[in-house]
Amino acid sequence: MTTSRARISKAVIPAAGLGTRFLPATKATPKEMLPVVDKPAIQYVVEEAVNAGLSDVLMITGRNKRSLEDHFDRNYELEQILHAKGDDDRLRKAQESTDLATMHYVRQGDPKGLGHAVLCAAPHVGDQPFAVLLGDDLIDPRDALLTRMTDVQQEHGGSVIALMEVDPSSIHLYGCAAAAPTGDDDVVRVTGLVEKPDAADAPSNLAIIGRYVLDPAVFEVIAKTEPGRGGEIQITDALQTMATDPSIGGPVHGVVFRGRRYDTGDRADYLRAIVRLACEREDLGPDFRAWLRAYVSEEMQSR
Ligand code: UTP
Repeated sequence: MTTSRARISKAVIPAAGLGTRFLPATKATPKEMLPVVDKPAIQYVVEEAVNAGLSDVLMITGRNKRSLEDHFDRNYELEQILHAKGDDDRLRKAQESTDLATMHYVRQGDPKGLGHAVLCAAPHVGDQPFAVLLGDDLIDPRDALLTRMTDVQQEHGGSVIALMEVDPSSIHLYGCAAAAPTGDDDVVRVTGLVEKPDAADAPSNLAIIGRYVLDPAVFEVIAKTEPGRGGEIQITDALQTMATDPSIGGPVHGVVFRGRRYDTGDRADYLRAIVRLACEREDLGPDFRAWLRAYVSEEMQSR
């Protein structure tokens, strides 16, 4: 069995999708740059990687995505103006994203699917296990999902995916895992995967969410994976091959996440993320909560 338990130090963030669910906002702006309160969604994702000890970040980008690179680069003009004004607080905010991690970028060319985006990372990643964080999936900063996943990978080797229990009526929106229990309440052994199944055919209500720790054997498998649902090369299809044949890159485990997660590429979930994170902010929270309470009671009276 070829499976690596080397320390994980690299994170790959696919952010080359077209973001069509968020048109027209995403016509010229990447959806990953949409602000969640006052920070672009992508900055939360990079912060999450860094908090899990992964400070080498490769972002997969594409056309219209230059602002992603600019956001993690310096803006000397802005910094000079804030410095001259003595506005240290805003200067710190402008510099925060620059100093976070060592950033690398590669362009995907045609967005041929998530599997294809991950394959673009092969030359940078090499032969070590690595993490994948979807650029439009936001995990609440207080829920250390990725750290738990890297711990599970160190214990079992192979690959680890993040799963979340969803209502069976919405499983058709996700990749879905067939799973067997392990000795750990939050860890399952994944025995099969299927992309966006109908509720009647779904092997469970465990949905795949946007965090993965992958054995590098995945690259070879993706390269041989034919386009699947939607004509895209799906990471789920490659992982299905690995889950059913542990001689390729070791076993696949799942961490069942019970914390807070938002799909910022989905309009309603994006709004929920903003409200929740704004309520919890020390600077904005008290006033915003008071306004929200008044707004909700007004709404209830008028219905
Ligand atoms: P999504 O399917 O949510 O992204 O992919 P999308 O295609 O941009 O979304 P819609 O449905 O058109 O609104 C999940 C993640 O994978 C990335 C996306 O950027 C997103 O972070 N992705 C997807 C790529 O990097 N390349 C692709 O070819 C597809």
